[in-house]
Amino acid sequence: SLVILDFGSQYTRLIARRFRELGVYSVILPGTAPLERILREAPVGLVLSGGPSSVYDTNAPKPADGVLDLSVPILGVCYGMQFLAQAAGGKVERAGKREYGKAELTSFGGDLFAGVTGEFVAWMSHSDSVTDLPRGYEVVASTDDTPVTAIENKETRRYGVQFHPEVVHTPKGTALLSNFIDVCGAKRDWTPQHIVDELVEDVRATVGSGKVLLGISGGVDSSTLSLLLARAVGDQLTAVFIDHGLLRLGEREQVEHALRPLGVNLVTVDASEQFLSALAGVGDPEAKRKIIGREFIRAFEREAATYGPFDFLAQGTLYPDVIESAGGEGAANIKSHHNVGGLPDDLQFKLVEPFRTLFKDEVREIAALLGLPEAIRTRHPFPGPGLAIRILGDVTREKVDILQRVDDIFISGLREFGLYDATWQALAVLTPIQSVGVMGDERTYKNLVALRAVTSVDGMTAEWARLPHDFLDAVSSRIVNHVHEVSRVVYDVTSKPPATIEWE
Ligand code: XMP
Repeated sequence: SLVILDFGSQYTRLIARRFRELGVYSVILPGTAPLERILREAPVGLVLSGGPSSVYDTNAPKPADGVLDLSVPILGVCYGMQFLAQAAGGKVERAGKREYGKAELTSFGGDLFAGVTGEFVAWMSHSDSVTDLPRGYEVVASTDDTPVTAIENKETRRYGVQFHPEVVHTPKGTALLSNFIDVCGAKRDWTPQHIVDELVEDVRATVGSGKVLLGISGGVDSSTLSLLLARAVGDQLTAVFIDHGLLRLGEREQVEHALRPLGVNLVTVDASEQFLSALAGVGDPEAKRKIIGREFIRAFEREAATYGPFDFLAQGTLYPDVIESAGGEGAANIKSHHNVGGLPDDLQFKLVEPFRTLFKDEVREIAALLGLPEAIRTRHPFPGPGLAIRILGDVTREKVDILQRVDDIFISGLREFGLYDATWQALAVLTPIQSVGVMGDERTYKNLVALRAVTSVDGMTAEWARLPHDFLDAVSSRIVNHVHEVSRVVYDVTSKPPATIEWE
């Protein structure tokens, strides 16, 4: 594999993803990982990532002893290049001019740029620069502000780029990473089919003749996992889908129709009575989340006891959750984001987590290969607590029923108008507000619902979606015409921040 040593750049994960998109398996290890740890990955090449430090800081992170002496090719990116240069006897200094943003290379050449023609725009973000070249190295790219923008030592196969080839703002950056793959002689065999074959083998080896329990949420990760496990161990798998009664219209049936024909031994449980009675009279959003989390565990344990005993619990943990990287993420807890599916630590199972090495895009790709219908594969994210956090205040079966019908009109409208895939998430909110309307000759006094649609990359920030007025007009009249409990529809035009995506 290609091993990326992470020195704390926000872009490190992108490097791994780009290599994988180019067909080469790659892993991320902490920049200071011991040599033995690196060798365990059988590296055919190394990348030293960027990072926030300066190489001349006293506690600047360094690769472990012996790493730079490995005979495989090494590519340093930004901080990584400065480190390579300094370690080989070159000089790094605070640049006269900080370079940030797009810069056009004034010249380029060498192994990394092989086959690249035309202009080359590079994404820069640095205040240090290499000012003296180490022996054996030559400059292979420059910009106006940074004479030493890329370096190479053909003999030792050491390469450095000051810019970030992994980001989209370096449009031809992928070509560089691809050239590095060739320099390493890495095999491009990381294809969806290969991933599936490998995972199936791994699961069989781990599980043997044991029985496996999996909780299904209806999302792409757990659905895909059920298909993989069914392929690997057949009916040794029991997949349990708990319908908490807070799902979208027809969702349970959709999951059943998608998974059962593909051989998943799926148990679905209507637990709506249990959840709705536990939620009765509770209006506080965090209290609702806690109750749902607690009831979910109860329901899941009950089903596990009914269909068990089980030896293994399968979970859809993804690579971004397990990367041991430099620089932790310390985000403030705005909402508890209790994931329904979050299970207690003391369950008596061994874990199988086949997706531990995969990125979300890779899961989507193997989902297609395993036959998961497109409607589930490309589905918007849906929160674990479901419609409970879209019904402001206390939740009743009647309110769920109203919101399900509103939501269904909105979402199927988005699909019909070809707008679904252009939005990252879309939802309807049932407010406790009544407003006056007129229907025929009669005064009405009914519910206000809000529609919200956002564009986003990861849900951390979001823009309200500029949906066409004609579309909003069409869904608004469908809603008030078909859902008699509703007399007014509004559209949410707030971005995140300051608002969150959900209303609770
Ligand atoms: P917010 O509302 O925080 O939402 O902007 C960001 C993303 O997280 C989802 N979300 C949740 N998902 N349990 C979940 O599993 C929760 O309690 C929860 N609250 C919000 C939300 O749907 C959006 O995709």
